[in-house]
Amino acid sequence: MAKDSIGVGLLGCGIVGSGAARHLLAEAEAVARAVGVPVEIRRVAVRNLAKKRDVDLDPSLFTHSVDDIVEADDIDVVVEVIGGIEPARTCILKALELGKPVVSANKELLSTLGQELFIKADEKGTDLLFEAAVCGGIPLIRPLKESLAGEGIKQIIGIVNGTTNFILTRMSESGMSFSEALAEAEALGYAEEDPTADIEGFDAAAKAAILASIAFRSRVVAGQVYREGISQVTHRDIEFAQRLGYTVKLVAIAEEIDGEIAVRVHPAMLPNAHPLSSVRDSFNAVFVEGASVGNLMFYGRGAGSDPTGSAVVGDIVAASRNLITGGRHLGCTCYFDKRVLPIDEMESQYYMLLSVADKPGVLAEVASTFGSHEISIRSVWQEGFGDEAQLVIVTHRGKEANLQATVDDLGVLDSVTKVVSVLRVEGEEE
Ligand code: HSE
Repeated sequence: MAKDSIGVGLLGCGIVGSGAARHLLAEAEAVARAVGVPVEIRRVAVRNLAKKRDVDLDPSLFTHSVDDIVEADDIDVVVEVIGGIEPARTCILKALELGKPVVSANKELLSTLGQELFIKADEKGTDLLFEAAVCGGIPLIRPLKESLAGEGIKQIIGIVNGTTNFILTRMSESGMSFSEALAEAEALGYAEEDPTADIEGFDAAAKAAILASIAFRSRVVAGQVYREGISQVTHRDIEFAQRLGYTVKLVAIAEEIDGEIAVRVHPAMLPNAHPLSSVRDSFNAVFVEGASVGNLMFYGRGAGSDPTGSAVVGDIVAASRNLITGGRHLGCTCYFDKRVLPIDEMESQYYMLLSVADKPGVLAEVASTFGSHEISIRSVWQEGFGDEAQLVIVTHRGKEANLQATVDDLGVLDSVTKVVSVLRVEGEEE
């Protein structure tokens, strides 16, 4: 395409959009060098024209109409940073239909209805790039999809949500309760107005679905990701974790086992020596295990206007360069149709805290319940005496269905007052 400049249209100018616009302006010369021609923001569609934006753009560029961008002849690259399903989905489909490359940061849309968008991009031979949709400023999508295109990825384990990592860090290091740590995350602006998507693991599940799809080259949607959040994690669990040499993190885990995919998001105890245990505060990190390359770790800022805006600009450069050179990045890489395992069929190690009667034969009864369901105990200790007695148990790896059956049976034993908590232990036994 003989073009002497590339026109960019932004759909949305919130936290991510304004960050992208600021970076595109600040790095205009480097971007022009990389692409071969200048890349200009020509229009920005927003809901509220009166709202002040944190970017120095001519007010005449702002419009109410998404069609002023999607359908306009002078817009070559469409950047969707509105979030949510609609109107984002319709705008992206329309832009792709017109052969325009799209850059999106929309994990919710891509992890649920992504397939139709990728099919459309492939049909039209254009780019749909989404580096900013997973872990903000950390380059992950292109490394996984392109740099590791010849790699057999075995497992991905990551801390992909900054808000929950901040909360768990505060609970671990300052002895705060979950609600105190959440209040601090809200005061510092880490938590969203409605923190449900973060603390209940929906945000992490969307990211896990996208990462699993790319890593194992088979589509996984957010609804197939087993999910538990961190609202049930207590300070007592964290205290026992510390005494056992573990750190509690909300982890996203995706692995391929005998040609099938296991993908889940839940709080887990990780050995203190595991590289993810030292990822503190609101940082994200993703640990990738490849068959040939070995272990890789990607670490950085998973959210925020500047880091996420920077990832969007990287994609704008890539898409613009392809328009100039006539190339295209790898399209949809979901070549296979692998089964996604239900949680019952997955395996883990487990930590369990039980309130028990402090009398002869209780430990034997508890141990035999584990044994009868093929769950092997690795360590056990008693905490407190008499009415305060608790058993802290860590198991070897076992099947989730067997663990659930163990919990059900323990719950009806006279000697077990309560199954206080169950947490998975990851990153220790293969
Ligand atoms: N709310 C997310 C987090 C960032 O706390 O990591 C956007 O995905």
